[in-house]
Amino acid sequence: MKTPHVSVLLREIVQAFEGVELRNFFDGTLGAGGHARALLAIHPEIEKYIGCDRDPVAHEAAAAALSPWREKVEFVRSSYSELKQILRELKIDSLQGVMIDAGVSSMQLDHRERGFSFRGDGPLDMRMHPSADLTAEEIVNKYPEAEISRILFEYGEERRSRQIARAIVDARRKKPIRSTAELVKLVEPIVGRSPIHPATRTFQGLRIAVNDELGELEKGIQAAIDMCSVGGRIAVISFHSLEDRIAKTLFKKCEWRVAKRGQAAAGCLKILTKKPAIPTPEEIQANSRSRSAKLRIAEKICA
Ligand SMILES: C[S@@+](CC[C@H](N)C(=O)[O-])C[C@H]1O[C@@H](n2cnc3c(N)ncnc32)[C@H](O)[C@@H]1O
Repeated sequence: MKTPHVSVLLREIVQAFEGVELRNFFDGTLGAGGHARALLAIHPEIEKYIGCDRDPVAHEAAAAALSPWREKVEFVRSSYSELKQILRELKIDSLQGVMIDAGVSSMQLDHRERGFSFRGDGPLDMRMHPSADLTAEEIVNKYPEAEISRILFEYGEERRSRQIARAIVDARRKKPIRSTAELVKLVEPIVGRSPIHPATRTFQGLRIAVNDELGELEKGIQAAIDMCSVGGRIAVISFHSLEDRIAKTLFKKCEWRVAKRGQAAAGCLKILTKKPAIPTPEEIQANSRSRSAKLRIAEKICA
């Protein structure tokens, strides 16, 4: 079956849960269901696979991919940061596995009317959940220059963030910036020649801000740590250094260790990836969107 999104680090995700008896599994970013398919096929013991995604388009794609496991999959249209509330509603009190594959799907990037892509033209939208309040258009046309610059610098790692923010504010004084192509036209001459598309970083920064991706990740990982049972595992794929830092820091904060003097122990996690797993050169060649992916895995070792 041709999938609308190629799952990243698929083999590594399967390995991450090897040997774990997965009864209840929480997939926070179901997407097209590629990771879900692989896990459901290898773990027949799964009783409930909670497939969460805030984008309804993802559910349509995943429903087709997961039809053989229809009775095991619970499709949830929500943010994964709501993990505890979701489990409460489903009357599930613990999980043996959680995965978060942060970021955007190819379904979102490839449909220009969603506004995620700097290729082609579309509305400046970028919302993963189509009825969320904040759009990229609002940030670009209403936010103060300094805040736009911060978003592009911090979330987009765009070195020319100040100049771009200035150009946006100058342009919007004449007329509102409504489309992705208008924004690209403003950014291109400022960034100039670049190995990646000159608007990549600007679009990334805006997208992360629109969807509060970093806040989501922090809340989601913390909830996953709280809700995993002993022996359960948490796998997080990130695509951005700030996201990776959140996973690394939270895992580290909860790492089990014996206090230096005395017997007291703290933390409940064992970190299984001292260094994050990254895609092989073959995977990057086959799927360039995997190039910045990093996978961190932790196991809950005490309650
Ligand atoms: C990289 S794709 C996941 C691909 C999926 N693992 C697969 O194999 O097809 C990321 C998905 O996560 C969703 N997403 C991102 N942040 C989310 C959040 N905070 N809550 C729920 N879904 C989110 C996006 O809508 C998108 O569909």
